[in-house]
Amino acid sequence: MNLTVIDHPLTRHYLTVLRDVSTEPEEFRAAARRLTYTLVMEATSRVPLVQTRIESPLETTTGYELGDVVAVAVLRAGLGMLEAVQDLIPHVKVGFAGVQRDEETAEPMEYYAKMPKLENSTVLVLEPMLATGGSLSWACAKAKEFGATKITALCVVTAPDGVTRMYEDHPDVHIVAAAHDRQLNDRYYIVPGLGDMGDRLFGTV
Ligand code: URA
Repeated sequence: MNLTVIDHPLTRHYLTVLRDVSTEPEEFRAAARRLTYTLVMEATSRVPLVQTRIESPLETTTGYELGDVVAVAVLRAGLGMLEAVQDLIPHVKVGFAGVQRDEETAEPMEYYAKMPKLENSTVLVLEPMLATGGSLSWACAKAKEFGATKITALCVVTAPDGVTRMYEDHPDVHIVAAAHDRQLNDRYYIVPGLGDMGDRLFGTV
């Protein structure tokens, strides 16, 4: 399976805040950031380390430095996860993948792509809502075009269609998520889900 669902109590708590229809944008953004911390811990658990020698106040000892990490935020909802990644990995480089879903077909339409160098980096693609999988699949293909070979996707909520699509299109991409929900509705929203992530983050409802 290409999906790991994090069931840590903090993840579940902040997911509940996000799902709650009465959560206002300010609290919603804070919960999205806090939940993302818990996903990043798992998503970075296999990032290569470079061994170093450092001086502690008492003696020379072994230290470890994190290898190169790039985050690719899928616009616009992925921005809600970016601050947590930058906080935990200050040297992270950031790319942006602008994709809009066609409201009729739910297929992705590209409008922007700006990537740093991705070769030899661990790439974290930030796509909170894995619904049909169209946007995430497109973003991973774009990252591969720019040289990415090790990709982990960070999602808040996934749906069966999206996970299946990702497994078919990108079996090499590991997905780390806070929830795997029941299904999509007839407007391609995840249910029970949390609504439109971008609208809830930015108050555009
Ligand atoms: N995008 C969202 O923001 N929410 C969904 O439920 C599906 C896609």
